[in-house]
Parts: sequence; C-alpha cells; structure tokens
Amino acid sequence: MNRKLTFLAVLCPLLFSSSSCTNREALGRSDDPKGGKAKTNDKLESVSPHVLPPLPFKEDALEPVISAKTISFHHGKHQKGYVDNLNKLVVGTDFAGMPLEKIITETAGKVDKTAIFNNAAQAWNHAFYWRSLSPKGGGEPPAALKQKIEASFGSLDACKKELATAAMGQFGSGWAWLVQDGDKLKVVKTGNADVPMTAGLKPLLVLDVWEHAYYLDYQNRRVDYVNTVLDKLINWAFAAENLD
Ligand SMILES: [Fe+2]
Repeated sequence: MNRKLTFLAVLCPLLFSSSSCTNREALGRSDDPKGGKAKTNDKLESVSPHVLPPLPFKEDALEPVISAKTISFHHGKHQKGYVDNLNKLVVGTDFAGMPLEKIITETAGKVDKTAIFNNAAQAWNHAFYWRSLSPKGGGEPPAALKQKIEASFGSLDACKKELATAAMGQFGSGWAWLVQDGDKLKVVKTGNADVPMTAGLKPLLVLDVWEHAYYLDYQNRRVDYVNTVLDKLINWAFAAENLD
C-alpha cells in the first residue's frame, strides 16, 4: 500500500462511518455539474447521515495559539451545527445518501439549494481546516511542497504573506486557501461557505477567518490570529499530502 493509500486508510474510519468511506469513494472524484472533474479533496468524503468527525488533536493541543475554549465551541457547536443542519435538510431529498463533496458540487450556485450548500460546504471546510492545523505545525514545508511554493511565490515567506493578505482582505466571514491550479500553487479567498473546488482549484490547506475561529482569543485582532497560526500551527505536511 503506497503512502497516500495508507494515509486514507487511517483517516477514513476516523473521519466518518466506515460504511461511508470505501476506497472507491475515497479515491474517486465527484463529477462536477458541467461534466468535468471538480478539484475535490477526496479524504473528506462521507454520506448521510453525516457525522461530526473527531478532531485530529486534543482540544487543548493548539494552546496558547488557539485556546481549548475556542476549539470546543468551534468544533462542538459551530461545526456540529452545520453537520446536524445538513442531515435535517437532506431528509427525503435526492441529496440523502449522497457523498458530501457531491452535495457541494451539485448545489453550488443554485439559489434554491443555498441552505444545503452552505451547511454541506461548512461541514467540509471545517473538517479540512482542522487538518490544516497541527500542534507541530509551522516551520518548513516538506521538500516537494517547498519546491512548488518557491516556484509559484518566490519564497515561503512570500507565500505566507500572500495567505495573510488574503485572510485579512476577506471582508466579513470566509476562508483563505492555498490551492493547486495545475502545476501552479495559488492563494485564494472565499466568502462565507464558498469553496475553491467548484472553480476547478484543488485545496491544499485553509485558514478559517470567521470571527468564531478567533474572537474568544484575539477579539478583533484577526491579524494576530492569522500570523500566529501561520508561524506556529499551519500544517504543511497536510498540504503536501494533498498535492496531485
Ligand atoms: Fe469556523
């Protein structure tokens, strides 16, 4: 079993119910509505009833950068709320039993499906966000990722600066992403629940810049939250695993 398959085999039962995480689903990609392939992250597949994935670390593992109190509310209240709402919204619809990423691509941009999209995307985004952080994060990316970062941004510092600028430049709630677009890496930001996959971009890591991600610890100082997370917690190894 190669490294990626081993990683998936370990993650699947931890993330979601085992019956919902087959190799086919884990390795497959959701078809996008335009007939192409959406650039999804296949480690986060699940089908209804969707379950709240456990954190990949203890609630206090990110202190002092992010407090256990913030993690507890963020995971146990906010993310759980999205998962619970999604399960209620899909009962009796074509989306019941559909993998999470498929729901996202099928409902993106459809005004009559906004509530399902928002809750599905937020459930996915938060599972991805937790894996974008690590108590052993920060520092240098793995060599293959660092090479791509330097080719795309010039330097690791320039990449981090662009991520911070995107995170600070997102007006209101949203997300700042490092994504892969073909051979290039890019930084993009999305508002509210929006995801980069629907634009054909493969997410590598993400920063949550909704106020609930930092307000208890940093109040209005989003810049301090962003820069400290980038220096101390950002999980470059996870981003490297997500490279095509
Ligand atoms: Fe959040």
